[in-house]
Amino acid sequence: MKGRRVRMAGVAVVLLALAAAYGSHVARASERGLAPVAAPSPPAGDAEAVARGARLAAIGNCMTCHTATGGQPLAGGLPLRTPFGVIDSTNITPDKDTGIGDWSLDAFTRAMRQGVSRDGHLLYPAFPYPHFTQMSDADIAALYAWLMSRASVNAPAPHNALIFPLGFRPLMAVWNRLYLPPESAASATSAASATARDAQAQEVARGRYLVESLGHCGACHTPLNRLGAERRDRALQGGTLEGWDAPALTDLAARPTPWTQAQLTNYLRTGYASEHGAAAGPMRTVTRSLGEAAPEDVEAIAAYLMTLQSNPNAAAPPAAASVHLSTAPANGATLFAAACASCHGAGAAMSIDGHRPSLSFSTAVNADSPRNMVRILLDGIAWHESEAASFMPPFAGTFTDAQIAELANYTRARFTALSPWSALDAQAVARLRKESPSR
Ligand code: HEC
Ligand code: HEC
Ligand code: HEC
Repeated sequence: MKGRRVRMAGVAVVLLALAAAYGSHVARASERGLAPVAAPSPPAGDAEAVARGARLAAIGNCMTCHTATGGQPLAGGLPLRTPFGVIDSTNITPDKDTGIGDWSLDAFTRAMRQGVSRDGHLLYPAFPYPHFTQMSDADIAALYAWLMSRASVNAPAPHNALIFPLGFRPLMAVWNRLYLPPESAASATSAASATARDAQAQEVARGRYLVESLGHCGACHTPLNRLGAERRDRALQGGTLEGWDAPALTDLAARPTPWTQAQLTNYLRTGYASEHGAAAGPMRTVTRSLGEAAPEDVEAIAAYLMTLQSNPNAAAPPAAASVHLSTAPANGATLFAAACASCHGAGAAMSIDGHRPSLSFSTAVNADSPRNMVRILLDGIAWHESEAASFMPPFAGTFTDAQIAELANYTRARFTALSPWSALDAQAVARLRKESPSR
């Protein structure tokens, strides 16, 4: 916590210095307010646009971020941890007093493209407008039609806990000037899809448009700079959020089993793919949402991802043929037999009846960093409706830091032929425990 405060104070100092440099922009403390409208304009009710908007919202994951745990859909109040402190999402139901019911399409479009609220105050980039800015007019209008057709919920805006002076929204004018991609990028992407000659090129162009704009995959999969902006020179090369590593999407061909386009499509739509570990952590909610999107859009995303693989024939890491259990911690073996083997042992029902692959294929177990392995042990994989077969219990309360480290090190040694994670011990687990907002 102390380390975070120091880091955030550092961010604040840098932004303040920039504010001095860009004084004239900050002086224009906010943008012009747009007049409230008495009723949605254009009026809601175009059933076709509403249906299209619903499928697009699934790609944008609007529901996940704008719904508090156990709260009303889209009524906001979910706390998000960012380099600027904790920011709560807002109410985007069509409620006139506390939601966006008095927003015109113009006001909504400005929010999506420029990160400016209807009354003119600047929004924080925890709202992925740096990606949404590239959306087409037609897609933004469909989202608007869908939102205006949702149930109104009266839920006042929450109070955000941001470190001074980051709670001062006008500073975002500096941030936008530095990092908001020009809107012209949007027309470039749509132009590319218009001129794409054959069906396959069109599919890839559509996938690229969705990944870069509405899907905002880079919000998690791209590393951030110290001001919380994505490093465009390292797009999709792997990021860290809420205690999880979002692995690089540019070396999917170098996994224990190289991803195929069909496996990617399945994974993105269901959270599962043959010969790959299941989606866990924040990626689980992404895949659950993508399951509601138009299937051809998810196929397009997978098609585009395949074009990012620089060397599709790259040598995959050695398979787990020659495991080096001699170096594995003995305690780990005992703990694994007691707590894990019923599901992950050879011959467990999960792998035989459930057709789930061995942990040898898990990206987390094969990763350079033990972060996701430890995260999965601590958090488990939450129970979801009828998906009993995909439940893994959380072990955060069961095992000590030292035991979690032993289990992780043993799993690595038993299921891969890779070298052990250096320095994964009780202290490292204690640090990783603190990285997640939920504990
Ligand atoms: C990663 C989380 C996240 C996702 C995904 C997300 N939002 Fe948001 N959104 C936020 C946060 C946080 C805010 C509040 C920002 C602030 O107060 O500065 C916000 C604010 C907004 C606002 C401005 C509301 C106001 O009162 O000023 C609109 C409109 C909005 N979001 C629409 C959407 C739509 C539509 C989608 C899906 C396409 C979406 N958001 C997806 C986090 C998210
Ligand atoms: C909220 C953050 C977040 C967003 C947004 C997000 N991801 Fe992920 N993604 C993750 C995390 C974290 C993991 C690792 C989870 C795991 O190992 O189960 C992951 C894993 C993946 C994997 C598996 C990689 C592997 O080798 O195992 C793929 C593929 C993927 N994401 C694609 C996407 C695509 C495409 C998008 C955009 C449509 C996207 N992700 C958006 C956080 C995110
Ligand atoms: C009740 C059954 C159950 C138990 C007990 C259990 N797991 Fe899991 N575990 C699962 C399921 C289901 C998944 C999702 C895996 C899939 O379908 O690919 C999973 C996934 C994982 C993954 C990540 C695979 C990936 O990349 O997505 C790891 C690592 C893991 N378990 C390790 C362990 C360890 C170590 C233990 C013991 C401390 C353990 N599990 C106990 C059911 C269980």
